[in-house]
Amino acid sequence: YNRQRLLVVANRLPVSAVRRGEDSWSLEISAGGLVSALLGVKEFEARWIGWAGVNVPDEVGQKALTKALAEKRCIPVFLDEEIVHQYYNGYCNNILWPLFHYLGLPQEDRLATTRSFQSQFTAYKKANQMFADVVNEHYEEGDVVWCHDYHLMFLPKCLKDYNSKMKVGWFLHTPFPSSEIHRTLPSRSELLRSVLAADLVGFHTYDYARHFVSACTRILGLEGTPEGVEDQGRLTRVAAFPIGIDSERFIRALEVPDVIQHMKELKERFAGRKVMLGVDRLDMIKGIPQKILAFEKFLEENASWRDKVVLLQIAVPTRTDVSEYQKLTSQVHEIVGRINGRFGTLTQVPIHHLDRSLDFYALCALYAVTDVALVTSLRDGMNLVSYEFVACQEAKKGVLILSEFAGAAQSLGAGAILVNPWNITEVAASIGQALNMSPEEREKRHRHNFHHVKTHTAQEWAETFVSELNDTVIEAQLRI
Ligand code: UDP
Ligand code: G6P
Repeated sequence: YNRQRLLVVANRLPVSAVRRGEDSWSLEISAGGLVSALLGVKEFEARWIGWAGVNVPDEVGQKALTKALAEKRCIPVFLDEEIVHQYYNGYCNNILWPLFHYLGLPQEDRLATTRSFQSQFTAYKKANQMFADVVNEHYEEGDVVWCHDYHLMFLPKCLKDYNSKMKVGWFLHTPFPSSEIHRTLPSRSELLRSVLAADLVGFHTYDYARHFVSACTRILGLEGTPEGVEDQGRLTRVAAFPIGIDSERFIRALEVPDVIQHMKELKERFAGRKVMLGVDRLDMIKGIPQKILAFEKFLEENASWRDKVVLLQIAVPTRTDVSEYQKLTSQVHEIVGRINGRFGTLTQVPIHHLDRSLDFYALCALYAVTDVALVTSLRDGMNLVSYEFVACQEAKKGVLILSEFAGAAQSLGAGAILVNPWNITEVAASIGQALNMSPEEREKRHRHNFHHVKTHTAQEWAETFVSELNDTVIEAQLRI
C-alpha cells in the first residue's frame, strides 16, 4: 500500500553539516527535543526540509551538500549569514524564544532589541518565504505538509498563498504564553494570522492551546470555539497533541554490550556515591544556575552527604552566537567553579559539568546508572529528557525531580517530585527527599511514569496529528 507522503518542515534538520573540503561534508545528528521526537516517527514516507546549520555560499558546496543530505531524505534550505543573524539568532532566539518562555526580552540590550525588531521581523518573513519556496518545489498533490516550531510561524500563510489546497499543519514545540505576553509583540497580529492559515494547529498541552485561542480572540477579535478558531466561516482546528519518545529505542539500547560495559565503568567510577544527573542544552530556560545553587544549598545543609553524592551536568552548547547564551555559559562556569572549590577535595569534586553533547549510547548508560534526575526548567514546552530518563530506569527505579513549569509535569507529575525551580530551598529539600526515598515508594512512582512513557510514543503523536489533519481537511470540504 502507499504510505502517506509527509513533508516535515523545521528550521533544524535532523542532521547538521560540517564541511570537510570543497565538496565533502560530514553529517552529525542535531541536538534537541524536536529532532529526537521526529526521528522516532517511522510510519510515513517522510522527507525533511530545513536548514543544515551552516552557511554554504558557493555552488559547489551547495550541490555536494544537497546530495549528501538526499541520502538521509533531507532537503536543505540555504540561508546566508545575514539572514541567519537576523532571523535565527535575532528574531527567533533573542525575541520569540525568551518571550514564549516568559523570560521577557534580554534585560541588558532591551532597547537595542526593540529598535532592531522591525528589520529582524522582515528577515524572519523572508526566511519563512525561502522555506516555502523549497516546500513548493518538492510538493506533490496529496502530500501532508507539517510545519514545526516558532521559527516557522509565517510558513502556513506562505504555503496557502501558493496553493490553497495544500494540507498544512503547524505544531509548536515550545509553550505558547498567556495572551498578555503575546500581545507585547509588535508583530502579534501578523504572526497569529499567518499561523491561522494552517488547517490544524497543535500544541503540547491544553493550556498552550487555550492561550493561543484566547490570543486570537483578544488580539484579532475572532471567535474561539471548542474546535478551534473561526474566521468568517473558516475554521482553523486547534488542539493539544502531547509529544512522546521512541521508548523502545532506549529500552533496547540498554541491552547493547557497549552500553552495558559503559554502565559498568560508570558504576565503578562513582562507587559509594549517589549519582544525580542533569541533561540540558545550555539554555536559560533550563534553570541550570538555579539547579546548581539548590545542589549547593543541599550540600551546605547536609554535611554527611558531601562525599556521598555527585552531580553530573551535561550542558550541550547551543545557539552560541547569541550573547545571552554566551553570558549564561560564563555564569554557570563561575558557579560550578565556586562550589567545587568550596566542597571539593584533592580527589573528588561534587559537580562534574560538561560543555558537550553525548552520543546516544553514552547518554543511555548515564540515564540508567542515575539515582536522581534533576529537571529544573523555568519553562519548557514538554522536556523529553525527563521521559528518556524514565525509559532507562526499569532496573534502578530512580527518582525524577521535575519542574512544575515543564509540559512534562502534566504527564509525569504523579510519579515525579514536582518543584518550583525558582525556590532553591524547596529544590534542596526535594534532593534530600529523593536521596532518602524508600525502595517501595520509588517503585510506585516509577511504575506510574514508566507506564506513561511506554504508552505515549512519538510514533503515536505523529500518527494522531497527521490523521487529525487529514480529517480536518475533509470536514472543511464538507462545510463548503
Ligand atoms: N540530547 C542530545 N545530545 C546530548 C544530550 C541530549 O541530542 O548530548 C537530546 C536528548 O536526548 C533529548 C533532547 O536532546 O532528546 C532534548 O530535548 P528536550 O525536550 O529535553 O529539550 P530541548 O533541547 O528540546 O529544549
Ligand atoms: C528546541 C526547539 C527546537 C530546536 C532545539 C535545538 O527543542 O524547540 O526547534 O531545534 O531546541 O535548538 P537549535 O536552535 O539548535 O535548533
